[in-house]
Amino acid sequence: MAEAGHVAPEMPFLKPFRDKRRDSRSHQLAKGGAQQGPRGTGASGNRTEPKVAPRVLSRRDGALPAEHLPLILEVAPNADYALLDSGAGQKLEQYGPYRIVRPEGQAIWQKALPAKDWDRANAIFTGDTDEEGIGRWRFPKTPLGETWPMKHDGIDYLGRFTSFRHVGVFPEQASHWDHMAGLIAAAKRPVKVLNLFGYTGLASLVAARAGAEVTHVDASKKAIGWARENQEMAGLSQKPIRWIVDDALKFAEREERRGSRYDIVLFDPPAYGRGPRGEVWQLFEDLPDLTDLCRSILTPKPLAVVLTAYSIRASFFAIHALMRDTFAGMGGTVESGELIIREKSAGRALSTSLFSRWVA
Ligand SMILES: C[S@@+](CC[C@H](N)C(=O)[O-])C[C@H]1O[C@@H](n2cnc3c(N)ncnc32)[C@H](O)[C@@H]1O
Repeated sequence: MAEAGHVAPEMPFLKPFRDKRRDSRSHQLAKGGAQQGPRGTGASGNRTEPKVAPRVLSRRDGALPAEHLPLILEVAPNADYALLDSGAGQKLEQYGPYRIVRPEGQAIWQKALPAKDWDRANAIFTGDTDEEGIGRWRFPKTPLGETWPMKHDGIDYLGRFTSFRHVGVFPEQASHWDHMAGLIAAAKRPVKVLNLFGYTGLASLVAARAGAEVTHVDASKKAIGWARENQEMAGLSQKPIRWIVDDALKFAEREERRGSRYDIVLFDPPAYGRGPRGEVWQLFEDLPDLTDLCRSILTPKPLAVVLTAYSIRASFFAIHALMRDTFAGMGGTVESGELIIREKSAGRALSTSLFSRWVA
């Protein structure tokens, strides 16, 4: 996503232990917002705004929530999106009308489909130039525009060729979206959702369509612009979504002070990122505070808090322990594991992220 004027310092401790895709996702985020190049909008230069004061955390009283792990949430090939094949360090995916080839560090196995299937790709991420956005892609058939129409479960939005090999959506997140939409529908009452690190807004659109009132926060002005475009594209302009450019931690702290409360909180933080005023986000340093804040901005009858993590040298056991401790005394269950995408050609699982969620 982001590429603001600042470049992430080398942080070997944040290097992925198994997944280049995670690394790339972290890298983009490290640069502070969605797809904004040095010439782009969004997080500004090298300025570093002081972060919010660290919270004084102490162990929460009360029984730990029940636990369910490992839980592997899988996205299977579907009409909107499919992981067609993978291998030899690459993946071949179908995004709506286009076949796309991108690097995939985890695909250390061999491709299952013959070369003729890979040769039918419409777009290949090369990443071999310093150019921004679409300049880093090669189109073997005909040149393509920067965006194209996509759908998720009947919601129209735009796919997008971006500088950091991403395409404006993380399809593996659909497992969380479906779960959240189910909770909203089953609640049969007004539900407020907070989507922190919301990027192009798919989760926000799914929540709004399911009937929730949504607050979407991202550090990148550009990502918020794309999310708004997606809202229009989806025909959901009348739905209540607040689009906010802000630092996630600062925003959550302000909500706590103002007494704003939410029934569902989603947070999908990068390993390293920047707020719009240069606030530094470091997952290992800041996640405990943000998780605690997420708990304290819940309504009296909350439904869920969903954390996803990637590009980090950690296991889901780590975020599981953090979530379980933080939600002590709340009842419910903490479920943790991995988000995976099931490959169409040979049925292999591609792991994309770790997650941990508290469900009432
Ligand atoms: C991986 S994306 C989240 C993807 C999203 N959950 C989805 O499924 O589409 C991470 C987002 O975090 C944003 N970000 C990075 N640092 C941030 C910060 N300090 N505060 C708020 N957003 C930040 C980036 O701009 C990026 O859009």
